[in-house]
Parts: sequence; structure tokens; C-alpha cells
Amino acid sequence: MKYFAVIQPVIANKINLQKLGRSSAFFLVQFLFCLTVVAQKAVVIPIETKENALILETDKDNRLWIVHNGKKLTNPGEYALVNARYNLSEANAGKYNHAYTPSGTWNLSEPAIRVTHSDGNPSLELTYLTHEVKKENNNVQTTIIRLKDPVYDFLVTLFYKTYFNENVIEQWTEITNKEKGPVILNKYASANLFFPESNFHLTSFQGQYLREMQPMEERLQQGIKTVESKLGTRAMLLGTPNFIVSLNGPAAENTGNVMLGQLAWSGNFKLDFEIDSYKNLRLIAGINPFASEYRLAPGESFKTPSLIYTISNEGTGKASRQLQDWARQYRVLDGKGERLTLLNNWEATYFDFNEPKLTALFKDAKTLGVDMFLLDDGWFGNKYPRNGDDAGLGDWQENVKKLPHGIGYLVKEAKAAGVKFGIWIEPEMVNPKSELYEKHTDWVIRQPERPEKYYRNQLVLDLSNPEVQDFVFGIVDTLFMKNPELAFIKWDCNAVIYNAYSAYLQAKNIPQTHLYVDYIKGLYKVLERIRAKYPKVPMMLCSGGGGRGDYEFLKYFTEFWPSDNTEPVERIFLQWNYSYFFPSITIDCHVTDWGKQPIKFRVDVASMGKLGFDIVASHLKPDDLSFCQQAIANYHAFKGLVWHGQQYRLANPYEGPVASFAYINDSRTKGVMFTYLHSNRFMETATEKPIKLNGLDPLKNYSIREINLYPGTKSTINTGSVYSGEFLMNVGINPDVHSKRQSVILEITESISQK
Ligand code: GLA
Repeated sequence: MKYFAVIQPVIANKINLQKLGRSSAFFLVQFLFCLTVVAQKAVVIPIETKENALILETDKDNRLWIVHNGKKLTNPGEYALVNARYNLSEANAGKYNHAYTPSGTWNLSEPAIRVTHSDGNPSLELTYLTHEVKKENNNVQTTIIRLKDPVYDFLVTLFYKTYFNENVIEQWTEITNKEKGPVILNKYASANLFFPESNFHLTSFQGQYLREMQPMEERLQQGIKTVESKLGTRAMLLGTPNFIVSLNGPAAENTGNVMLGQLAWSGNFKLDFEIDSYKNLRLIAGINPFASEYRLAPGESFKTPSLIYTISNEGTGKASRQLQDWARQYRVLDGKGERLTLLNNWEATYFDFNEPKLTALFKDAKTLGVDMFLLDDGWFGNKYPRNGDDAGLGDWQENVKKLPHGIGYLVKEAKAAGVKFGIWIEPEMVNPKSELYEKHTDWVIRQPERPEKYYRNQLVLDLSNPEVQDFVFGIVDTLFMKNPELAFIKWDCNAVIYNAYSAYLQAKNIPQTHLYVDYIKGLYKVLERIRAKYPKVPMMLCSGGGGRGDYEFLKYFTEFWPSDNTEPVERIFLQWNYSYFFPSITIDCHVTDWGKQPIKFRVDVASMGKLGFDIVASHLKPDDLSFCQQAIANYHAFKGLVWHGQQYRLANPYEGPVASFAYINDSRTKGVMFTYLHSNRFMETATEKPIKLNGLDPLKNYSIREINLYPGTKSTINTGSVYSGEFLMNVGINPDVHSKRQSVILEITESISQK
């Protein structure tokens, strides 16, 4: 923006130096030197993906500004002309488009960074020093830009890692204190972005237990809209660090410019969306500075978490596919690999089980046709047996009454029944009624002088303490050392942090304001160690459902549990909302007894993610059982599409009684389409209109076949007709859902014979 005037280089070539005295000539040379330095050409730094560009540019004072953020220009030479097109005056209320806005000097808007220097001075200026580009391969490179305070020895390095084909940018910052004494970081955002459009809509995702990930779209007005968490551990429970910003009007599925992003941090976060006085959008995203001033010793650096985002010029659908592709390829542990279908005993037994009950369930798992049995909460604790959620957490020894032969026996018995065996742990937590609490009260996050406050009868262990990190690592390590054939871990986290206080930080003379940050860093250290020793074993991230799930965690976890709410209609909405940001391979979907829908509906919905069951299979009616067996066999045949294919959201459940999704493979030869009637007030007869498919090849022909038919029912679809991709995408197919046929799965296969 033209907040500054670039001084044109003026070289006086008519001056004859010999006519001037020596000192005058010296001063003239000095003057010209200064002039050229001052008038040095602006540094233009393009950060480009396949379709978009973020253009940064320095001004005469060497400050760094964002001058373009959006669709890429064909002629990169024209980026230098962008700035001069704007007439925004600084007199209005200051400058808004800095690449990483400092505080305490010229800036009057929300800063990205605020510090207190070692001498107590609270002012910061950041000017451009150098930049470089590090190329990893043809698709991935990182632009590194160094900024420095001209007065203090204080450095900020901005990192922009681009994933070219996916149009994804991962952005983070490293802050380095080279002063002689400690510097306090009062605020230290990951990213500071700027969009010069004028009609912004934000979709944030709010929630509460069992109602996670509810979208709320609003038009952003002048001022700041903040989305944040202060919960500490289950940080995403009430609001998530995921967001959609549409740049010109409300977001649409297949049209318009949208940014889809997430702060990849598993603790307290803060996203500020500020509309400035010119109606531009400033976005500042990072760790929540609430109660989190961070002391940086001389020579130390602080690396912020990443803001990960993609921009699409064809709506949210494309943006999601870009992010899902990126996640599978570059982020999620084993993102392009396989997953295990399972039978979980949580809702089948709760805490009430023993060896005979469990071994019977192993056989049920085999009868159903899933890969694994998952033993949930309740298997541990002796002095304080874990027979409810009020005791035993922290005491990770098998309960000898329930499991006299230990976990090893169960692993062996499961194997004999023909399934793998996985186990539940909640290693960051402790019940006050536990031996761990009695022995190590100093390991617990609690205010020593105040009454304890519990969330689900438990407290959080202090992961800023390296001894606690060892303990948590030890829980997993011991399980695997003793049971090398253990196939899966469900890692739960059911409490938030009350009474934030660390005895460890106190003893080490580290400020208490490090706790929220060092907790999460400690947790990542443990996960690093686990993955160094056990790189492959699949792990599910669970947090009472929906309290956790972000792209920093998913470096270590193969999947996550989106909600304890498994009511299938609710799940359609939840899975729709999570799909904006996550590929289906990461989303655990279990069939349970929640809801009034028939088993077919429940299984079909759960088949759109990583399929699992949490039912008593032996209680199923014969037809229900044989339906499940057939549906699981079908799932094993099409799961590759759901896990690795391109996802298309076809009919939005918020806009009508029908929801529809499709997954298409990359070569566009195969697909699977899921359609549901989620509310049947008016739908006694079949869907009136066809649903348009997406992602097919218009020139290919496809046959459509209905699968997952309930025993004794006939399909109205299986006529053997063949349609062109063009027809299916422009006219569509009618899955015939109605009140007696509320869920329909269609298999789409290229029909070679018709060519
Ligand atoms: C949480 C999880 C459930 C189950 C219970 C066990 O609520 O979300 O799936 O594991 O804990 O206590």
C-alpha cells in the first residue's frame, strides 16, 4: 500500500568533481552514497504456490509489508506496481499491513509481537535484514526472512514453507534474544497476515462436550473478532483453532476466494481477525498470550507453532481437498498408509469386564470381520481399582481381579481369535484417589494453598517437569516392552487445567507463566520419544471427543476421536464440519447404540471415516449381524477411496434434509457416494431432484451400483444403466432416499465396455 513514498534514485551526472574542493567533493560523494543507500530499491519477496502469491516488500525505512495476498499474477514483474495502486493514508490510524507488526513504536494496531527488553524498555522496531530460500524438492521450499531491531540485539525470523501443488503455506516465527539479559515475550504470534479486500466472512467452529465443531459464519465488521482457548489441555473443546475466511462474501462450496486455516498448536491459542479502518483484514494467530509471558534467556530462541493455511479461488471444496492432500502427504503420521478397523468395548461394558467377557468380545470382533479389538478404560489400578472414573487413574498396573493373567494374556488370546489387540491409556492425568497422587503430589498441576478443583474427578500431571515426561513415556514404553504385539493405543485426555501452578517451575525459578506453553512442549517431547522408538504403531488421539485434534498432534497420531457423540445424524454434521480441515483417514467413526436409526444408517455414516464398532455384536439380530458383516467386507473393498481419494461435499445438510458426500480416486475411475436423509419431516417419497456429482472425468462412462443393502431389500438404482461423467456432474444421479430408505451408498465405476 502506498503508505510511504519510495525515493527515486537521483544521480547528478552533470556535476564536475574537479571544480569542487577536496572536502566538498568528499561530502558530495558521502551525500550520493547516502542517497543511494536511502533510495535503495525496495526488496520484493514473492512467496508463491501454484495459484497464489503472498508478496512482501520493504519500504524506505526497511520495514517489511504485505503488498499482495491472493491470486498469483502471470507476470511477476507487475508485483512491484501493486503498492502504488493504493492511496491509503497513514494519517487515518496508522499502518496496517506489516508482515509481523511490532509494538511500542510506530504501530497502534494489534501487534504480532510485544516484548520487554532486558533493560525494561517495552519498545520494538523490526527492519529487514536478509532473506533466503531453501528448496527441499520441486514442491516444497521455505522462504526465511530475518528482521532485526535497529537499537536492540533482538531478532525475528519469519518462515514461510510453501507446498506448491497443494497451495498450502505453513508459517511460523523464531524469536531470538541476543541481548545481555533476559527478554520477556509478552506476545509472540506465529503469523501476521493481511488481505486487502472488503467483504470478509469468518466461519469459526464452536462447541461444547457432545456438540463439538459447530460452524458459525459471520460477516466481520471493523474491530477485532477473537477466537481463543484458555483450557490448557482439551484446548479445542469450546472453540477450535480451525477457521474459514471468505474474501468476497459468504463462503460457497465451489466458487469464491476462501482461506482455510489452522493454528497447529495443542494448547491455548488465540486468533485475532481485525478489520481495519480501510476494511482490510488483518489476521494474527498464535499461542494465547493469556498468563503466558515467556522469559527468553540471552542467546535463546523461541520457535512458535505453525499457522497452516490454503487459499482456494474455487470455494471451500477445493480448499479442503488441498489441505487434505497436504495432510496425507506431508503431515499425518502414515497419512498415505493403512488403518485398522476395530471393535471397542467402551459402550459395550464400560468399567464392568473381566477376562471371559473380553475374550468373548475378541470372538465377536472376528465374527464381525474387523481387524482389531480395543480394550478401553478400566483395566488398571489395584489399591484404588479403576471401577469408575473417580479412582485409579495414574496407576498403570493391570487390575488383578479383572485381569489376573495380565495384558500379555489378552494379546495372546486376541491373536488366537484372529484379531489384533489395542489398549486405552490416559497418561497425562491422575485421580486424587490413586497411588501416584499419594507418592507424587508434586507432579500434579494444583495450587498448593487452594482447594483442588476437579474435572471428571481428575487432575492434570505437570508435563513441564522432565520427571513427569519420563513417567508418561514409561507408561507407553512399558506396555510395548512387555507386549511387543500390542497393535494400537487410544490416548485419552479428559480434564482441563484448573489452578494452573507448577511445583517444578517454582523449584527451578522459572516463571509460572511458562506453564501453559511448557506443558504442551513437554507433551511433544514425550511424543517425539515414543515415535523415535515406535515409529509406526497406530495411535488414536482422544480427548473426551473433540477436545483435541490438530496438525501438530497429527505428526504423532494416525487418527483422532472427533466426539463422544456417536448419534449418527449428529455425526453427519460433525463429519461434514471436520472434513473442511481433515482427511477422512484421520477421523475415527464408531457404530454405537446411540440414536434411533437402523443399523444400516449407523454403519453407512461410520463408513465415511475410519470405521469402528462399539456395540455388543452378540446382541445383534441375525439380519443386523449379516448386514454388518457384509458392510464391513464392502468397507474393506472401498476404504482406499475414503482414506486416500478426493472428497467432494455434494449436498450440505445445513441447507436441506439431505446430505451427500463422494470420494473419487485420483485417476477418476472409481468412486463411492454416500447420501442420507437426516431429517424426514416431508420426505415420504424419493428425493425430488438428482444430486450432482463432482470430480469425475466428463469423458468417461460410469456404471452405478448400490451397495450395503439391508438383507431382504432391493435397490431401485441397480438397473445396469451407464452414464457419462458429464451427465453425472451436470444432471446428477438420484439416490432415491426417503423415509424408508434413509441412507444409500452408491459405488461408481468406470465402465470400459461402453467406450
Ligand atoms: C472418554 C472417551 C471415551 C472413553 C472414556 C473412558 O470419554 O472419549 O471414548 O474412552 O473416556 O473413560
